[in-house]
Amino acid sequence: MNNAIEIKKDTYWIGVNDRRTHIFENYWPLPKGVAYNSYVIVDEKVALIDTVERSHMDNYLDNLKEILQGRKVDYLIINHMEPDHSGSIKNLRYLYPDLTIVGNSKTFTMLQNLYGPSNNLLEVKEGSSLSLGKRSLNFYMTPMLHWPETMVTYMPKDNTLFSGDIFGAFGTLDGGIFDDQVDLDYLEEEISRYYSNIVGKYGVPAQSALKKLGGLTLEMICSTHGPIWRSHISKIIDKYDKWSKYETEEGVVIAFSSMYGHTEQMADAIGRALSAEGIKKIRIHDTSKTHPSYIINDIFRYKGVILGSPAYNGGIFPTMETLLCELECMGVKNHVLGYFGNKMWGGGAIPRFKAFAEKIKWEVVSEPNEVMGAMKPTDLEQCKAIAKAMVEKLK
Ligand SMILES: Cc1cc2nc3c(=O)[nH]c(=O)nc-3n(C[C@H](O)[C@H](O)[C@H](O)COP(=O)(O)O)c2cc1C
Ligand SMILES: [Fe+2]
Ligand SMILES: [Fe+2]
Repeated sequence: MNNAIEIKKDTYWIGVNDRRTHIFENYWPLPKGVAYNSYVIVDEKVALIDTVERSHMDNYLDNLKEILQGRKVDYLIINHMEPDHSGSIKNLRYLYPDLTIVGNSKTFTMLQNLYGPSNNLLEVKEGSSLSLGKRSLNFYMTPMLHWPETMVTYMPKDNTLFSGDIFGAFGTLDGGIFDDQVDLDYLEEEISRYYSNIVGKYGVPAQSALKKLGGLTLEMICSTHGPIWRSHISKIIDKYDKWSKYETEEGVVIAFSSMYGHTEQMADAIGRALSAEGIKKIRIHDTSKTHPSYIINDIFRYKGVILGSPAYNGGIFPTMETLLCELECMGVKNHVLGYFGNKMWGGGAIPRFKAFAEKIKWEVVSEPNEVMGAMKPTDLEQCKAIAKAMVEKLK
């Protein structure tokens, strides 16, 4: 069955839905799946823009052949080399041996390293243009969004931007493919999680890209994941602008680890105290149960972060360590921090939290609170003090 959809005259979406993969990049959860979008423009020349992940190649190539009705692909434009989009290149080269592969110098190094030597390479640079006949394609470099070679392709005739992963989302395309055909409320967390998890580290490159793309007239943005943007273009651009400036809302994420519930007791006490101080957006996560993907996503949203861990073999609990490493690596900015611990004899989480605060440069709102086992009345007061200090910073 042909799943291709004409999105502009002679321009087709030929994406595939992946509902089977549990984790993206073998790490990020996919509760609602993910779509890999590819596009083909049928002009005097045929240009294919990005491909799909290897596991879905068969259907994809069948769809492509059906659209082309015996014609060949002349150009394969590679906006991004990550294998979820470059996975079908090897087979495309066998199918269309005369294919010209279009990318930048960094693309070609990666192409060689992943799929071996290629003939017929056409190198493009910032502002280069390629004519397909009635249409032309212009290329703009968007380095580190989210790989060094990433670029975008703009088709001025139809004011259409093929943006690679930029403006992408987790979640399959269940019927509709345009932003006005899908349930954006249902996909909201998948859109923000895609940003925070995959693009979140690259706020500065995202700001540069937004400035660069701001000069283009945009009627349609075709990303490699998630819906095609045409009715809510300014909405998704505004979101990217806000996220990449690390703008946050009033609210607090409490992430804790706990083996026997004593550290969790402290988290709950802090949560209650925050609520008593008038904070409504409070998200409490257990790091052993909730994947960092969701915790990080909430942290991108809310300014306040309070972390707690029991002592574990002299140091911090492993799942909290994972969360701290992720946050440090992403260099998430513009937050205020409180932290607490629980222990029985010595060592513990507090020194690691202190090192984390220094590395990530978040302002610490108060002295840490460390409890021995179950909370006593004075410990409760200290938990309340962390909450109060946090609220003073937020209000
Ligand atoms: C495997 C394991 C290792 C621990 N290591 C330490 C430690 O190095 N230092 C310490 O003071 N307490 C240590 N403890 C004790 C716990 O940190 C302490 O009981 C704490 O109250 C547990 O909090 P929880 O109830 O939130 O799990 C350890 C406990 C376990 C089960
Ligand atoms: Fe990617
Ligand atoms: Fe991707």
